[in-house]
Amino acid sequence: MDNIANKKILLIISGGISAYKSLEIIRLLKKHGATVKCILTKSAKEFVTPLSVTSLSQEKVYDDLFSHESESKMDHISLSRWCDLILVAPATANTISKLSTGSSNDLASTVILASNKSIFLAPAMNVRMWEHPSTKENLQKLKNFGYQVIGPEIGDMACGEYGEGKMTEPLNTINYLNEYFQNIKKNKKFKALVTAGPTHEYIDPVRYISNKSSGKQGYEIAKSLNKNGFQTTLISGPTNLDKILGVNLISVNSAEEMFNATLENLPADVAIFSAAVADYKVKNKEKEKIKKGENIDLSLEKNIDILSHISNHNSLRPKIVIGFAAETNNLDKNSKIKLSEKNCDWIIANDVSDSSIGFNSDFNEVSIFYNNMKKEKLPKMEKSLLADKIVKKVISQLN
Ligand code: PMT
Repeated sequence: MDNIANKKILLIISGGISAYKSLEIIRLLKKHGATVKCILTKSAKEFVTPLSVTSLSQEKVYDDLFSHESESKMDHISLSRWCDLILVAPATANTISKLSTGSSNDLASTVILASNKSIFLAPAMNVRMWEHPSTKENLQKLKNFGYQVIGPEIGDMACGEYGEGKMTEPLNTINYLNEYFQNIKKNKKFKALVTAGPTHEYIDPVRYISNKSSGKQGYEIAKSLNKNGFQTTLISGPTNLDKILGVNLISVNSAEEMFNATLENLPADVAIFSAAVADYKVKNKEKEKIKKGENIDLSLEKNIDILSHISNHNSLRPKIVIGFAAETNNLDKNSKIKLSEKNCDWIIANDVSDSSIGFNSDFNEVSIFYNNMKKEKLPKMEKSLLADKIVKKVISQLN
């Protein structure tokens, strides 16, 4: 638990029966040398008293957005700047819902909205509430912003039911935070660059050539790098995805713009090229919208291959260069060719003829080919989990 020593933790306790466990979280954090300041929501005070929280934390307890005393000190700003991270435990269904809408009608939600720090949620609620699609949707939205979720666990609930929704035990939460700080310490010296999404190659001002990439895989990789402490730049073609807090997002349209943005953001220690970059662009892009009935000349010319250019560059090449291969046939053979032709350290191959994985799905199923030609086949899994696995391998190689 060494990594928790001297850290400043802002613990937000919201109103659920698991709030009693938050007292143990405070005790453990203090025991391992952290400073803990707490915010209690109005309903949290029905479950734990400010007196017990202040006794354990040995700090003032915060609860009111508009108190005379704190108004002048702008608590919602100062608390969010003071801490190293924010932990919301328990994070009730109501709190998760409020945070997902950007609500800021009390001190807890305002602090989070104003925060520039990593935010961890430890959900706790009845199993039906946990399984409700609105909770799932709200939580997914927060995960997309880069919030990290600890638990919940399966077990007997205070309400007498059994299922998923129990708040993670305090010791496991502390272990999770300890590992987070350890990763930050280990990896903050590393710079990572990720490309994601499709590119748009314009024919005229309103029409373009593109592909089905949603950007999900690349965004998940950037999210995972960021939560593991990397200084992460995400160069993204047009997508509908949310900006990830803590990640430097550079939005581009065309392959040419993606190439220039990539050059501008090197050097990096690792570069992961997951973007589905258009191989071709229109040779003579029309300045005006092409009128119906006109003959259209759609001559194409090759775009620069960003991955190849960077991985073959003497001075710009990152220590680890990872490409993706999107194939509809001869997956292994074509991927191996790309691995060597594009001079990658690894190629991550996915079969894009299967619509349940790859393009625009939440899942992927890949094989990783390493530059020693070894192949590692991974099962179908959520793109977020695959991203974590890739990043774990990157970390072990860099260290
Ligand atoms: O975005 P999602 O909906 O989540 O889908 C994920 C994905 C299917 C797009 C992703 O997993 C994937 O396979 N990305 C690579 C898509 C692709 O264009 O593959 P490719 O085999 O055509 O290209 C090989 C590699 O060269 C890729 O790393 C690509 O980023 C890179 N490339 C290609 C052309 C080019 N001009 N410049 C490049 O850098």
